[in-house]
Amino acid sequence: MTRAAITGTGFWVPERIVTNDDLAGWIDTSDAWITERSGISERRWLERDDQGRTLITGAEMGARAAREAIAAANIDKNTIDQIIYATLNPDVFFPGNGVFLEHLLELNTAGAMDIRNQCTGFVYGLAAADGFIQSGLARTVLVVGGEVQSTALDLSDRGRDIAVLFGDGAGAVVVQATDEDRGILASVLHSQGRYARELFAEAPVATETGRITAAMIDEGRHFPHMNGKLVFQHATRRFTEAIEEVLRKGGVDIGDVALLIPHQANQRITDAVAARLELPAERVFSNIARYGNTTAATIPIAMAEAVRAGRIHSGDLIVTVAFGSGFTWGANLIRW
Ligand code: COA
Repeated sequence: MTRAAITGTGFWVPERIVTNDDLAGWIDTSDAWITERSGISERRWLERDDQGRTLITGAEMGARAAREAIAAANIDKNTIDQIIYATLNPDVFFPGNGVFLEHLLELNTAGAMDIRNQCTGFVYGLAAADGFIQSGLARTVLVVGGEVQSTALDLSDRGRDIAVLFGDGAGAVVVQATDEDRGILASVLHSQGRYARELFAEAPVATETGRITAAMIDEGRHFPHMNGKLVFQHATRRFTEAIEEVLRKGGVDIGDVALLIPHQANQRITDAVAARLELPAERVFSNIARYGNTTAATIPIAMAEAVRAGRIHSGDLIVTVAFGSGFTWGANLIRW
C-alpha cells in the first residue's frame, strides 16, 4: 500500500524579537498578564522599512522554510509535483501564496493549491497531501504553513486581546510516496461554521462595492476579532476529541504516542488537553513561549524544531492537532 511519509522539515522565523515588555510599551498590557494567560514570552515579527512595509513577503518566508525542508529531504526540487500552501494571510487578495512559492522556488510548473483554514490549515494540508499521494495524483508534495500576522494586528488598546498572541513565521514539510509501512496513518477534519464570526477578520468583503469602506476601517473591521473565552472552551474540547478520534481511526492508544505536536494557541489549552489525556510534558511539544501563535505555521515550525532537537525518531508515532477560526479542527496520526 502506498503511504505518504514526511521526509524533510524546515522552518524560518524573522530575527526581530518582540517581547511582552515591548508590547506593554505600545498598548495597555503587561508581561505578567500575557505570560499568565497564554504562556507567551516573546514572538517574532517581520522587520519593516520606514514606510511600514515588511522587508520580505509571506511567500518569501515560506520559500525559506521550504528550501530547508527540500534540503533535509535530500530531493531534487523538480520532483515536487504539488504545492499545498496554508495561510490566512496571503500576500495579495488573489492569487494565493502557492503560486508565488512556485515562482520563488523555480519549480517548473508544479501544481499549487492554497488552503484557508487558519490555525487548522496545516492539519488540513497534511490530510490533502495524503489524499493526493494515495490517489496517485502526486508523488511528492510540498506542504507549507506560513503567516504574516504582525501587519494585521490592531496595536491600539482595542486590539490588545489579539495583538499579544500572534507572531510571524513559516514551516514546511516534504511529503513523499512510500511503499514502507510509515507515514500519515489517519487524519480527521471538522468544521462548525455557526461560530465563523467568533474569530474572524471581516474585511475586505465581496459584498461591498470597493470591498472595503472608510467606515469599516474606522471601526477596525479589517482587524481580527475574537471571542477569547468561547474559543478557549471549544478549543480545549475539540483538541481532545480530535486526538481521540484519530487514535481510534488508526487503531492505536494514547500510550503509543511518542510526541503530541499541538497547534500553539495558548499554553493553558495545551496543558488542559495534556492533563485530560494524561500525557506527560515530555510527550507534548511546546514552543509558544518563543513564537506565540503563528497560526498555520505553528505545527510545521514545531515539527521542524522537534526533529532538530532529537525528539522524533524513526518509527515514532506522532499526533498533530489543531483548532481555529471557522471553527475548524482536526488531527493527523503519523508513523515517522
Ligand atoms: N492585556 C491586559 N488585559 C487584557 C488584555 C491584554 N492583552 N487583553 C484583554 N485584557 C483584559 C480584558 O479587557 C478583560 O478585562 P475586564 O475583565 O476588565 O473586562 C480581561 O483582560 C479578560 O480577561 P479574561 O477574559 O479572564 O481573559 P482570559 O483568561 O479569557 O484570557 C485569552 C484571554 C485571549 C488569553 C484567552 O481567552 C484565550 O487564550 N482564548 C483562546 C485564544 C486562541 O487560542 N485564539 C486562537 C485560536 S487558535
